[in-house]
Amino acid sequence: MENIEKIKEEIRSLLSSVSSLKELRDIKSKYLGSKGVVKELLKKIKEVPPELRREYGKKVNELKEFAEKLFREKEEELKRRELEEKLKGEWVDLTVPPERVVGSLHPITITLERIKEIFKGMGFEVEEGPEIELEEYNFDLLNIPKEHPARDMQDTFYVNKEGYLLRTHTSPVQIRTMLKKKPPIQMIAPGKVYRRDDDPTHSPMFHQVEGLVVNEYANFRHMKYVIEEFLRRFFETDLPVRFRTSYFPFTEPSAEVDIGCVICNQEGCRVCKETGWLEVMGCGMVHPKVLENCGIDTEIYQGFAFGMGVERLAMLLYGIDNIKLFYENDLRFIRQFF
Ligand code: FA5
Ligand code: MG
Repeated sequence: MENIEKIKEEIRSLLSSVSSLKELRDIKSKYLGSKGVVKELLKKIKEVPPELRREYGKKVNELKEFAEKLFREKEEELKRRELEEKLKGEWVDLTVPPERVVGSLHPITITLERIKEIFKGMGFEVEEGPEIELEEYNFDLLNIPKEHPARDMQDTFYVNKEGYLLRTHTSPVQIRTMLKKKPPIQMIAPGKVYRRDDDPTHSPMFHQVEGLVVNEYANFRHMKYVIEEFLRRFFETDLPVRFRTSYFPFTEPSAEVDIGCVICNQEGCRVCKETGWLEVMGCGMVHPKVLENCGIDTEIYQGFAFGMGVERLAMLLYGIDNIKLFYENDLRFIRQFF
């Protein structure tokens, strides 16, 4: 029985110098294995005088529990230390600059940034609106009442909540801005819009940038200047531009702006549908009804607005002949822009 105390000491001192799990397993089997010290001690119970057997058995069991606990603790400690060592070796410094930038900006993102920078430089503020929009803002307040044939000009995706739709243009942001701010207003609103359209120059989701200027003197000549100056800065060259009379319920008079097709040098191709021109935006003087709908006094204020197609501008800027290329995420295409 005295021996048992000594064995405890022995285990304690052995374990304090163990440094690997393998070493630990060897020592453990020496003491707790099927032919280990504890098993041997239990066998010897036959040699113990009967009156001491009870106490002897108790002591051996204590030793067994003591040893098991110590080995378990040591094992946990060693495992923890091994993991720490491993993690130290695998440590990655996320602040080290990469040898090569792996990602690149999408051409539409680049184009949107380019458009925003130009307008900011001309004193425009950037506004935003939701893609799931109130029918009231997308149509009614823009002077497109229900049953008005102009609703068919923009084939709409409705959502299954009465009174809401996927906005078909960025013009509802005009309404939101005029309801929120007093003139003078000079803003642009970039964002995604949705229509049931699909061909080489039409996509069911595309981007527009809306522009709105409301003050006491805005006129068609200002609008024409702003648009032409924007296009000059955007293309960094004088591309052919033409203003073609058009119709929008929310502007009067209205126009559409075409750019000479750069894909075919205006000789005619499938992008310009053999016309030599590609329509990039709609514009006009804000209809007085729209201003009134937003509580703006038309005796004092007037405004002009425009809405441009971002993909169309990007196609002309980069010479891309199919709008679908923007959405296929083919890395060979995307990596050409930065
Ligand atoms: C409008 O959406 C008007 N809200 C623009 C406007 C704003 C007029 C303010 C007056 C005042 P339109 O439906 O023509 O107009 O679209 C504007 C531009 O978006 C087009 O000139 C074209 O460049 C682009 N566009 C239209 N449909 C698509 C489509 N499916 N895919 C890609 N671009 C498109
Ligand atoms: Mg149009």
